[in-house]
Amino acid sequence: MKKITKAVIPAAGLGTRFLPATKALPKEMLPIVDTPNIQYIVEEAVRAGIKDILIIISGTKEAIEDYFDVNAELEMRLKAGKKDKETEMIRAIADMANIVYVRQKEPKGLGHAILSARPFIGDEPFAVLLGDDLITYDKKPAIGELMETYEKTGGTVLGCKRVPKELLHKYGVVKPIGDYSSSTFQICDMVEKPKDPSLAPSDVAAQGRYVLPGEIFDILANTQPGVGGEIQLTDAIKTSMEKIPCYAQIFTGDRYDIGDKFGYIKSIIDFSLKRDDLKDQVKAYIKELAAKE
Ligand code: G1P
Repeated sequence: MKKITKAVIPAAGLGTRFLPATKALPKEMLPIVDTPNIQYIVEEAVRAGIKDILIIISGTKEAIEDYFDVNAELEMRLKAGKKDKETEMIRAIADMANIVYVRQKEPKGLGHAILSARPFIGDEPFAVLLGDDLITYDKKPAIGELMETYEKTGGTVLGCKRVPKELLHKYGVVKPIGDYSSSTFQICDMVEKPKDPSLAPSDVAAQGRYVLPGEIFDILANTQPGVGGEIQLTDAIKTSMEKIPCYAQIFTGDRYDIGDKFGYIKSIIDFSLKRDDLKDQVKAYIKELAAKE
């Protein structure tokens, strides 16, 4: 079985839900307090043992490239000001992983974006981490849990969570084979963004983490536009199930939809409540607000 050594992070979306900020700032650079969300995504891959990472960008995303590059001038200034901790911190970001970039030239959907990773991946299985899905973890990151399931099964693996009925229309929803009470189970179909809960094959939805087989590229190249007129990764995964078994992995961590304004706010509150430098102040402020209600 081939080992997973590479990850793809699609970051080419327009970020229209976060305008006006995203007029000049890629949505992946929006900070969770002081750390751009894409750093958490890259760290997740690194924690799972993946160092070779492709970030798929589009038009105005140079800020992402700059962020993961060395900033010699800033380092020099920080050093001169005896800010050793900060100097180390910004250097560590540049040293974290081997990151390369490719541009998605047209916004034709997630499947189309993933197809542009082909020259980087070749025909190996690989990991995909979507930037809108921020997932917490203690020891093992979500993508690491998927990689373990890949190592056991050799199949495609989708990171999933159970989702309330009324939210299923936002996701790719899987159809389990038989009982699906455990955290790993095989699936035989998928529906992208079912318009009505009655069209959803279960309450288990894909949440931004995938281990995909190299064969997905040939399939994507032949996948016609689907929901929203976009080339959907879900459609290609569905086709791949004819030959390659596909598993849902219910990951352990909490997931924040930071592509959504409220999800983004929640992530900032929860992340700051976990930080020693902020938690007491934030907790006190929340209590103060609640008392006013
Ligand atoms: C994408 C996928 C969808 C998946 C979701 C996870 O949708 O197409 O299947 O459930 O990510 O967050 P998007 O949110 O990019 O529209």
